[in-house]
Amino acid sequence: MNDSVPAPAVPALSVRDLRKTYAGGAGKGGVEALKGVSLDVAPGDFFALLGPNGAGKSTLIGIVSSLVNLSGGSVSIFGTDLGRNRSDAMRMIGLVPQELNFNMFEKPLDILVNYAGFFGVPRAEALVRAEEELRRAFLWEKATSMSRTLSGGMKRRLMIARAMMTRPRLLILDEPTAGVDIEIRRGMWKTLKEINAAGTTIILTTHYLEEAESLCRNLAIIDKGRIVEQGPMKALLAKLDVEGFLFDIDGQLPATLPQIPGATLLAQDDHTLDVEMPRAMDLNRVFAALGDNGIRVRSMRTKSNRLEELFVRLTSENVDKGPSGNGTPAQPEPVA
Ligand SMILES: Nc1ncnc2c1ncn2[C@@H]1O[C@H](COP(=O)(O)OP(=O)(O)O)[C@@H](O)[C@H]1O
Ligand SMILES: [Mg+2]
Repeated sequence: MNDSVPAPAVPALSVRDLRKTYAGGAGKGGVEALKGVSLDVAPGDFFALLGPNGAGKSTLIGIVSSLVNLSGGSVSIFGTDLGRNRSDAMRMIGLVPQELNFNMFEKPLDILVNYAGFFGVPRAEALVRAEEELRRAFLWEKATSMSRTLSGGMKRRLMIARAMMTRPRLLILDEPTAGVDIEIRRGMWKTLKEINAAGTTIILTTHYLEEAESLCRNLAIIDKGRIVEQGPMKALLAKLDVEGFLFDIDGQLPATLPQIPGATLLAQDDHTLDVEMPRAMDLNRVFAALGDNGIRVRSMRTKSNRLEELFVRLTSENVDKGPSGNGTPAQPEPVA
């Protein structure tokens, strides 16, 4: 056995007790958008921040990318504290905002080269990078077309290509695929997977569970300004795959409960049985095993699953209202 433990890597993003209250109007208390959020994203990870509209996703991303001032807590990017060393921290980040915000009357090549120039990349180097990024985004053929003429999917990929021009170690995308059709989404997923495989840490916000599932290794779920769940995608899906029931029993439960392979039985009191079982399992098996042990079920109800309820909200709230819902999006604030 090798018991030398490698030193833990410095997180790509570390957020501690992050708080944000947007100032309200005169006499109003303001909106508490983040209520003490802490999370770590490992270098190389593909991380999803999943949450319903108004959860605080854009606020969190806005703070990390210095567009929004924090009210409390701390942020560090690869060990560099954002508050103490903003420009160094910022240099490591590439941001893809939700709204298309390039000049539609510029050509993709110019958009990329000018962007890099703004960040101090010499023109010759910027041209090399631009070709590389445009090829990766399947946009090389369109390098000198007017951006306005690009398809929706191409415009989205151009946003990603632009963010990559500074060679960020951490790429952050705010709902990159909200409101785009599945074909375009798949194309973007491919590009993002490639970028991640090449070593860039990626964080994206989404309200599509499917998107998080097919892209991300780890995720945090945020709701009403708090992290309500955090961990590997796989562990989360396993949790969702379990169903819980409460059985009301005729008479009293025996001291020793029967063993039912795959299910977990727990006496809540002497006539209420708490049963958790995989969704795929046949309930009749549980009834049969209980019957064999002289336990008669009088009635049953489903135990509500907090996580599942949240996912229902994640998906249903966005059906009618569109990707941005009716919540106020986080607006960039002037940074002091
Ligand atoms: N500039 C702002 N001024 C006031 N309230 C805001 C502003 N931006 C966002 N909010 C509020 O903060 C909460 C979180 O919003 P946001 O971070 O945009 O959530 P999400 O991106 O998850 O939809 C919401 O209640 C929203 O209305
Ligand atoms: Mg948002």
